[in-house]
Amino acid sequence: MASITIRNLDPEIKQALRERAAANGRSMEEEARLSLGVLAAVSAPDRAVLPVHLAIASEPSRQLLAGKRICLIIGGGIAAYKCLDLVRRLRERGAHVRPVMTRAALEFVTELSVGALAADTVFTELFDRQAEHDVGHIRLSREADLLVVAPATADLMGKMANGLANDLASTVLMATDKPVLIAPAMNPQMWTHPATQRNFATLRGDGIHFVGPNAGEMAESGEAGYGRMSEPLEIVEAIERLLDDRPRPLVGKKIVMTSGPTHEPIDPVRYIANRSSGKQGHAIATALADLGADVHLVSGPTNLVSPTGVSVIDVETAQQMHDVVHQLLPADAAIFVAAVADYRTKGESDEKIKKEDGGINALTLVENPDILASVGKHKSKRPRLVIGFAAETQNLREHAKSKLERKGADYIVANDVSPDTGIGGAGGVMGGDRNRVTLISKSQVAVWPEMSKRQVAEKIAGLVAEALAEVAT
Ligand SMILES: Cc1cc2nc3c(=O)[nH]c(=O)nc-3n(C[C@H](O)[C@H](O)[C@H](O)COP(=O)(O)O)c2cc1C
Repeated sequence: MASITIRNLDPEIKQALRERAAANGRSMEEEARLSLGVLAAVSAPDRAVLPVHLAIASEPSRQLLAGKRICLIIGGGIAAYKCLDLVRRLRERGAHVRPVMTRAALEFVTELSVGALAADTVFTELFDRQAEHDVGHIRLSREADLLVVAPATADLMGKMANGLANDLASTVLMATDKPVLIAPAMNPQMWTHPATQRNFATLRGDGIHFVGPNAGEMAESGEAGYGRMSEPLEIVEAIERLLDDRPRPLVGKKIVMTSGPTHEPIDPVRYIANRSSGKQGHAIATALADLGADVHLVSGPTNLVSPTGVSVIDVETAQQMHDVVHQLLPADAAIFVAAVADYRTKGESDEKIKKEDGGINALTLVENPDILASVGKHKSKRPRLVIGFAAETQNLREHAKSKLERKGADYIVANDVSPDTGIGGAGGVMGGDRNRVTLISKSQVAVWPEMSKRQVAEKIAGLVAEALAEVAT
């Protein structure tokens, strides 16, 4: 088996590793192991272009889970194997993991592996004379800081949504007074089935938190779509967010945001769009909600799951986005991340335009409303803080600076979206998981190093909190 000797690493990587290990109070070997884990979690195309020293230096180490007690309920799906890694990730962050497995889960992974990794007893039976002499299922549900269901099967979601409690897992979930996070995992047909979608909506309404499911290949050959369980590190991140008891400076602050692309219809089957994925905007909405803000996210069409704790309004066109944003005013802050189409066609055709008619060649375009300028220069309802994004492929600073002035923004977050930035794999920043931005205000230009979109989002949320606090004092 191959092994890595720290001594033989490139000096640049060794230095990054040394600094990070010192900052986190870990050995260099332990830091290297954790950093390679982060690298493994980056999606495959991104991994190919991500220099190792950036992966090592990228993710902040947080001690949010030290001493936290997590009751991990493992359902009977193929993704149960990933819960072994999840247990390891939680334990290496200092969390105590108490596993509960359904009977079906025992068909996929063994009690022995789960118990050994968790270093705790695995609970499987409701009618267990040993565990139930002091009503163990109530203890399991109350002694935890958080209950996590991973994988959450369609069956478990159905039981939870309907108040069934006929085995240990479902009874613990009914008996708890603690927050519950669930990571669904199932075949795409099962996920999109109306019954599952009904249960999903019911559980969200009941205040249950979700992470995923993601879109992708299924274990069953040839099947793809929504239903893949989130990766262990994504689940860890969601757990950290839920257990994060740091101050929430944005409580009581209303923030209106836009994210994603817009689709401008040409005819019933065609539209004008762009490559925006919505990942950066949705990440900012999540980070603001984590700081306690009341976030209203007006989203163009994306493939993303709505962020937890955020009010999402789905729209398609720039005009709809503009109208909804204005209906949502007044607000304390407005952040416009969406890549809004500058133009739409003059009059959408009711019928599919035929090639023979030459209709596509003769499209007439009209300008869309400028959402950022309409809010930044609003006479009576301008939020105290207005932030716009500028995606540029050349002369980044000049364009962003002029946008700041023309549109009445307090900050412009400029990013170079040309595909040759070397960021984010084949598609570049748009669609990728990483970003490199320049923050421009009237008085400063700050170039932030390349980082994950989540880290950019956290920094922007921090900036919003500071700016609104300054205005308040
Ligand atoms: C090979 C195999 C794979 C399965 N994978 C899943 C799955 O990924 N998600 C799911 O919801 N159900 C899956 N099932 C069905 C569940 O195992 C079944 O609904 C079971 O009753 C769930 O029990 P539990 O919710 O108590 O864990 C699978 C079944 C088999 C035989």
